[in-house]
Order: sequence, then structure tokens, then C-alpha cells
Amino acid sequence: MSTHRKVAVVTGAAQGFGRAISVGLAVRGIDIVAVDLSDSEETLAEVEAAGARGVSLKADVSIPETTERLAAVLEAEFGGCDILVNNAGIYPNVSFSDIDYELWQRVQRINLDSQFLMSKAVVPLMARGKWGRIVNITSNSVALPAPGLSHYMASKMGVIGFTRGLANDVAGDGITVNAVGPTASLTPGGKAHIDPEVITSLSMAQAIKRPGGPQDIVGTVLFLASEDSAWVTGQTIMADGGLTRL
Ligand SMILES: NC(=O)c1ccc[n+]([C@@H]2O[C@H](COP(=O)([O-])OP(=O)(O)OC[C@H]3O[C@@H](n4cnc5c(N)ncnc54)[C@H](O)[C@@H]3O)[C@@H](O)[C@H]2O)c1
Repeated sequence: MSTHRKVAVVTGAAQGFGRAISVGLAVRGIDIVAVDLSDSEETLAEVEAAGARGVSLKADVSIPETTERLAAVLEAEFGGCDILVNNAGIYPNVSFSDIDYELWQRVQRINLDSQFLMSKAVVPLMARGKWGRIVNITSNSVALPAPGLSHYMASKMGVIGFTRGLANDVAGDGITVNAVGPTASLTPGGKAHIDPEVITSLSMAQAIKRPGGPQDIVGTVLFLASEDSAWVTGQTIMADGGLTRL
């Protein structure tokens, strides 16, 4: 078991699930590199209040240049990387007839290509230490008849496939790769992009009948980021109040 102080990269860390995950990791003594297009200052303040070190990287996770920038920050500031949470994503609700190729590609780039690019940055560092945890955020919508999300569902099924594939290729380096699927939730993005009536009606179909919020996937991500999940890889866990069942 590794005993050194760990560092986690969390993408989309400025708000929503990414912010809650960053703080949850920090409370367990894990330092954070918060990657986001926006300022992550509020997240870093909470990370530091929890007693961990926080560094922010203002960057677009969907472009290859960020891979080098992230690797350089990790090397210079922490000398390695232990955990990657690929959380950044967008979910514009657009009917198929209104999705043009540009939007289709943008959604694939931000939701799926980013997970490949960030993994390329950290896997060599994790392999050096023969230990790593990669947690990819997908969505339970892949299992639901959700309208206006064909571009999004394609990207999030891609995340599940990438998770299964990458798990094979990095297991020999002590790295596990798993995915977590939240449900429609009251994050800042969820409040902006999902009809509140949809969130309420979905929550009534869950086993646990309340809308989800930013905290609701944190425990699942912490488990998959920990030593305790060492025998779990290539899996997808829907942390969604029991709406979908595998
Ligand atoms: N909230 C939901 O209802 C819900 C449900 C299922 C899955 N998810 C998934 O959870 C993840 C987080 O969602 P959220 O609700 O917290 O979203 P959010 O919109 O509240 O926050 C997303 C964060 O990601 C950042 N981001 C977006 N594109 C980026 C890019 N190219 N580079 C760097 N940062 C970028 C944004 O600036 C923002 O801070 C997403 O992958 C989303 O698909 C959300």
C-alpha cells in the first residue's frame, strides 16, 4: 500500500460535481489540481480549508495542448500523479434535427476526447509509481429514453467503452479505470440546462425519491479513487438513487 501524500487531478472542478469531488478528496488528505475553463478559486479555498494543497490549471480539457500543460504542472508541483477524475462535460439539450456537425463534434471533444487527453497526461506518471486511479464521469441517461441527447448519449457511451478498454491496457501498471454515472441533478449546470420538471419526475421514478445534488456521487468516486477499490476495474457504477439497474 502506498503511504505518500497523494495528488488528484479533477477536471471541471470550478463548480458542481467537480467541486464537490475535489473537496471530498481534500478532506481525505489528497492534494488537488483543479482543471477548468473557469476560475477554480472557490474550490481551492475549500480544498485548502480542508487542509490539503490546491493548485489550479485554467485550461480547456478538450485540446491536446492541455495534456502537456497538465503533465508539466504535475511534475513541477507534485512530482507525479495518483488520481484522475475526468468530470468536465457539457450537456446541451438539443433535438436531433437541430444538432449540426459542429455541435456534435464539440460534445464528443469535451465529453470524450478530453478523457483520452487527460489520461494520456497522467498514465505515464501513474505508471512510474505503479499505482493509479482513473474515474470517468458518464451519465445514467445512456440507459434512459431521454430526448434531445443523442450527441450526449453517444459521448457518454463512449466514456463507458473507453473505461473498459483503458482498464486492460494499464492494469499491469497498477492503475484501475472505472466510470460513475450520475442522474439529472441540481448542480449549477443541471439547473441551467435541465427542465426542473424533468428532474422532479425522474426523481419520482428513482428508488430514493429526491433529486440528486453535487454531493451525491462523491462517496462513489472516493471509493473508486481509493486503495479499497483495488480489485474493481473497467466497471460503471450508476450513482443515481436507483433509477437505472444493471
Ligand atoms: N448535473 C447533471 O444532471 C448530470 C447528470 C449526469 C451526468 N453529469 C455529468 O457530470 C459532469 C459534471 O456535470 P455538472 O452538472 O457538475 O456540470 P456543471 O456545468 O455544473 O460544471 C461543469 C464544469 O466543467 C467545466 N468545463 C466545461 N467544459 C470544459 C472544458 N472544455 N475544459 C475545462 N473545463 C470545462 C465548466 O467550466 C464547469 O465548471 C459532466 O460530465 C456531466 O455530463 C451531470
